[in-house]
Amino acid sequence: MRLTLKIWRQENAQSKGVMTTYPIDNISPDMSFLEMMDVLNKELIEKGDSPVAFDHDCREGICGMCSMFINGEAHGPDRNVTTCQLHMRKFKDGDTIHIEPFRAKAFPVIRDLVVDRSAFDRIQHAGGFISVNTSGNTQDANSIPISKYDADTAMDAATCIGCGACVATCKNSSAMLFVGAKVSQFALLPQGQVEAADRVQNMVDQMDLEGFGNCTNTGACEVECPKGISLDNIARMNRELLKSKVL
Ligand code: SF4
Ligand code: FES
Repeated sequence: MRLTLKIWRQENAQSKGVMTTYPIDNISPDMSFLEMMDVLNKELIEKGDSPVAFDHDCREGICGMCSMFINGEAHGPDRNVTTCQLHMRKFKDGDTIHIEPFRAKAFPVIRDLVVDRSAFDRIQHAGGFISVNTSGNTQDANSIPISKYDADTAMDAATCIGCGACVATCKNSSAMLFVGAKVSQFALLPQGQVEAADRVQNMVDQMDLEGFGNCTNTGACEVECPKGISLDNIARMNRELLKSKVL
């Protein structure tokens, strides 16, 4: 495949970015999107140019690092996949592909396509944990009955990989799908009840402090989420927050 790439290049957080055009040839439809980017970077390095900075780690859809906007969509045109699992066969020979970083006030650009998503880490630090007695008298988790529905729904929420596509897609840069998933995975289980009220309040407070916007129910986050996290998690988070204030 022969393609034209238009990629956001930005030296650092202070500098002004610009879309830069790169023609690229001999791309196999079986390559992943990141392998195509590797080919481009090899060519740029051989020419003495600086490679395009982009985040990646597992390349298996589980770490949430490979965040970029491709032709105006977080993680590109495929559904329920991350950029590292997107294949070039989703594009046509001769296509022009626009590649940009995730854009949100709370995700400042570090360089090119790399953004700082440590705001998510701080939200997790505020409440994304449970306290467990590790004295040696810990109750066997298998002895605590949990309904199949609750176990499955908690597991679905726990599949959020913290990629930030929900924020980048939302016109308000809201992080409520992410925080809703992180609150839900504990709210549905008995182990999450001890700190439930503090958890939801602290995580929502931190979310607001970081500068994420509010949810206006457009549903764009659910559409672009590579893990299919449901809007039900936002509703559950709102219920948990209300419960924490009145009980
Ligand atoms: S809710 Fe989905 S889009 Fe948002 S961070 Fe989690 S996996 Fe990514
Ligand atoms: S590189 Fe880990 S999810 Fe894509």
